[in-house]
Amino acid sequence: MQYVSLKPDGLLCSRLVWGVMNWGVWGSQFNTQAMLSLIEQALELGLTTFDHADIYGHYTTEAEFGAALKLSPALRPQLQLVSKCGIHLVTPNRPENVLKSYDTSKGHIIASAERSLKNLHTDYLDLLLIHRPSPLMNPDEVAEAFQQLKKAGKVRYFGVSNFTPSQFLMLQSRTELVTNQIEASLFHLDSMFDGTLDQAIQHQSRPVAWGPLGSGQVFGKTVDPQHLKVIEAAKKISQAHGAVWSLDQILLAWLLQHPAGILPVLGTTKIERIQAANQALDLTLDQREWFALLEAARGHEVA
Ligand SMILES: NC(=O)c1ccc[n+]([C@@H]2O[C@H](COP(=O)([O-])OP(=O)(O)OC[C@H]3O[C@@H](n4cnc5c(N)ncnc54)[C@H](OP(=O)(O)O)[C@@H]3O)[C@@H](O)[C@H]2O)c1
Repeated sequence: MQYVSLKPDGLLCSRLVWGVMNWGVWGSQFNTQAMLSLIEQALELGLTTFDHADIYGHYTTEAEFGAALKLSPALRPQLQLVSKCGIHLVTPNRPENVLKSYDTSKGHIIASAERSLKNLHTDYLDLLLIHRPSPLMNPDEVAEAFQQLKKAGKVRYFGVSNFTPSQFLMLQSRTELVTNQIEASLFHLDSMFDGTLDQAIQHQSRPVAWGPLGSGQVFGKTVDPQHLKVIEAAKKISQAHGAVWSLDQILLAWLLQHPAGILPVLGTTKIERIQAANQALDLTLDQREWFALLEAARGHEVA
């Protein structure tokens, strides 16, 4: 495993982050013991950073993960816990939410962070992100909420998710942001060409990439022409390296090689796929291989 700071002197994270969106009712429905076992196995591999959001599992997954941590409180200092806030999800678990909407008010940010702390059985979050940019976001109000949470020792660092470069700059003008968590993969290339990754390099803030494997659609019986082209290009690369590299490893190696120093958030629920991803940290594609994958994903060569 590698360890990297999201900013110079900022939060130190494992290069691979485990996203737990599908650990609970939105996916594998692990019980408490199974969650604890996965956390322990991840730590054995050196993976220490876990990505949550208040809304995962219709607001239930944080509490389930927290119940696992409660069984073994000594684990907490070894982990970096990331959570997100700012979305009102319509669900029977929150009858007061009658319309899906965003909320970046000071009151909501603080209340959501405090609820995450309670659910996760922890005194502090390592990183809190604004989940989606709201057109109604008042950066001064967000900055006040962040300042209050930091002063109280409840959140160590702050960031955003799915922000455009200008939205990032607007909030960054009022408060220190350590990362923008964005969708990025060979199947979602916008951030590479719309200035998002350029900005990350300029600000020395490493991006965190959700959906690093395109949310898994490339695996299995895909008939999508883009998927098929990428699979074919990846196969050629794998064969050139003795057929020991798997498709997921090649997709990850491609993303990891970008100079922005991206941290992929892995959405798998299987420890063996985390092990494979860990090995991908040691793969290096040559420039021809990297551009062959880009060409396959875009369906055309570079200009
Ligand atoms: N900030 C945001 O707005 C946002 C949005 C979405 C997600 N996220 C975060 O990002 C995390 C990851 O997102 P994601 O789920 O889209 O990530 P992903 O890693 O691109 O996709 C995960 C999916 O791919 C499947 N998969 C992975 N490796 C595979 C393989 N070798 N063969 C077959 N299937 C494979 C997984 O199934 P298995 O479980 O069977 O391996 C899972 O269904 C989430 O957990 C969440 O923490 C953030």
